[in-house]
Amino acid sequence: MAQDIFTKVDQYIYDLLGQEDQVLKETITSLDKEGIPQISVSANQGKFLQVLLMACCAKKVLEVGTLGGYSTIWMARGLPDNGKIISLELEPVHAKVAAANIAKAGLSDKIEIRVGIAMDSLQKMIDEGEGSFDFIFIDADKEPYKEYFQLALKLSRPGTLIVCDNVVREGKVLDANTNDEMVKGVQRFNQSLKNNSSVHATILQMVGAKAYDGMAIAVVK
Ligand code: SAH
Ligand code: DHB
Ligand code: MG
Repeated sequence: MAQDIFTKVDQYIYDLLGQEDQVLKETITSLDKEGIPQISVSANQGKFLQVLLMACCAKKVLEVGTLGGYSTIWMARGLPDNGKIISLELEPVHAKVAAANIAKAGLSDKIEIRVGIAMDSLQKMIDEGEGSFDFIFIDADKEPYKEYFQLALKLSRPGTLIVCDNVVREGKVLDANTNDEMVKGVQRFNQSLKNNSSVHATILQMVGAKAYDGMAIAVVK
């Protein structure tokens, strides 16, 4: 009953403000062709990321977890001409599919995909003095979310916005006895936000066509 209305209202918002063009639609279908899981953000969430990124006038964006480039394309479309996204992805096949989708979107000059273990790529950027990002979207494997966030802070400046997907997991975060490693990772991360004096943070619950979940949003002090 509740899910039914959430799905209908998601469609309503999509029709008003979240519509995908052909490239974004084909990005979603490209995943099935390669057997890649359908775990991209929804269209309305993609638009949400784009609006947030534009609100902080982001020019330099970091994404952790590319999949097929769906969220990456939504975000890149909110960038100014000289804007850039670095997106980190473990799976070469995901990176290959994403690169093709990004090329179709005409965004190859704005988006660089780095293939490898995100933790290593992040540490490398820190060691090489990559400099700070204006906006960071964390959406890779959930177990090390706390560690990703700590490294993201080292690639931030005061005012950087850090957004982390999937931090509610259908309410499973309330279950202190969960055996789900993804939920445990997210619980550890959410708890770490409480005492993190480097950020102002909140968590936004999200309902819609996809499973009930949420995003953490943190602004660096
Ligand atoms: N942001 C995407 C969805 C990302 S799904 C979108 O909304 O369109 C999570 C992605 O993180 C998957 O592609 C997965 O392969 C990748 N991933 C998982 N573990 C990783 C790791 N250790 N390092 C980098 N990427 C990882
Ligand atoms: C999963 C990962 C995601 O990033 C997401 O948005 C939904 C599900 C998962 O690994 O189950
Ligand atoms: Mg996600």
